[in-house]
Formats: sequence, C-alpha cells, structure tokens
Amino acid sequence: MEAPLIKAWLWRLILVFLSVLLLSVVEVKSNTDIDALMTLKNAMTDPNGCMNDWDPSFVDPCTWLRITCNSDNRVVRVDVPGCGLSGQLPPGLAGLDQLQYLNLYDNKIGGMIPTVYGHGFQSLKSLDLSSNSLESIIPASLSKLPKIEFIHLEHNQLDGYIPRDLGLIPTIRVLNISYNKLCGDVPPEIARIPGADWSNNPGIGKPCQ
Ligand SMILES: *[C@@H]1O[C@H](CO)[C@@H](O)[C@H](O)[C@H]1NC(C)=O
Repeated sequence: MEAPLIKAWLWRLILVFLSVLLLSVVEVKSNTDIDALMTLKNAMTDPNGCMNDWDPSFVDPCTWLRITCNSDNRVVRVDVPGCGLSGQLPPGLAGLDQLQYLNLYDNKIGGMIPTVYGHGFQSLKSLDLSSNSLESIIPASLSKLPKIEFIHLEHNQLDGYIPRDLGLIPTIRVLNISYNKLCGDVPPEIARIPGADWSNNPGIGKPCQ
C-alpha cells in the first residue's frame, strides 16, 4: 500500500475508535437520579402500582408520577405516601443528592434506616418515614444532613437510645419520634429542638436493655 492510503486508513481507524469511545461515554452517563429511584422501585412491593410509570428507559424521571424536578431536571421531591409499600429502604436511594423532600409515610416499610442516608442526601430538608414498620436504631449519621429541618419517624418500631447528635443539627426544627420503642434518657440537646416529640415511647426514662 502507498503511504497516503495507509494514512487514510489510519484516520478511519482513529475515527472509529473515537466514536466507540464517545458512545461508551454516553452510555455510562446514564441518569443518576433514575438509577437511585430504581433502587427504591426494585426494593419495594407496590400493591397499588404507585411506581408503575417509573420507566428507566426515560432520559430523566421528571415526568414520572410522584416525582418533582427542579429547572435543571434534577429530582427534588419523592412523594410516595399511603401506597401500601413493603420492603426495606435501599441504600442507593441516597444517590439523590438534590432531593429536598422524601415522603414515604403511611406505608409498610420495614427494616433499618440505612446509615448512608445521613451522608448521601446533601440537600434534604424533610424526611418523612412516619407510620411504617421501621426497626432497629435511629442512625446517628442523620445528624450529618446539612440542610435537614423536619424529621418525622413517628409510629414505627424504632428502638435504642435517641442519638444526641440529632439535637446538634443547626437547621433542625421538628424531630418527631413519638410512638416507637425508644429507651434511655432524652438528651438535653434533643429537648432543645422546638418541635421535638418523644411521647409514647414506654422505654424512655428507663435504661435500654
Ligand atoms: C408527632 O406525631 C404525633 C403522631 O402523629 C402527633 O400526634 C404529634 O402532634 C406530632 N408532634 C409534633 C410536635 O408535631
């Protein structure tokens, strides 16, 4: 082959290589909010089909029912209350780093609140997991949520001590942990939260077993 021909082939080869590279980058750059929401959908039994239109082949989840986005097409609200959802909260949901409101109250969600929720939800203002079947301790990591104002965990089966650090969150306004199985003394930092409610925990004021 003559030199110009080899050169042309080389260019073609480079072009093919570059397009393959570009395609794979586009492929990898899938929507992270969709990935996070699919972990929720996949973790839940959804008897009323509340998440039926959550379809991962969409470009973004902003047209899905019960999802609200901001002007950058990032998810800021997830509202799936009263749907009879059962299952356990997936750690991957914390990938929603622009989420401000997580409303999953009035379901049958069991298991633990994932520790990673305190580290992932960097924009969360309101966490409402009330009236479910959540067990185990309240993770102290929730005190790392930099913008949280409302934490609703009332009417669950949470046990153990109330994490003192929740009272140290500068933005916290409401911490409702009533109707659980918490025990031990109420730390003064918690008592100072304006909307703190730890009523109806028979073990409070007694040492945890
Ligand atoms: C906490 O939740 C309980 C049970 O739903 C409710 O009765 C109470 O008013 C709430 N407390 C606060 C401070 O919002």
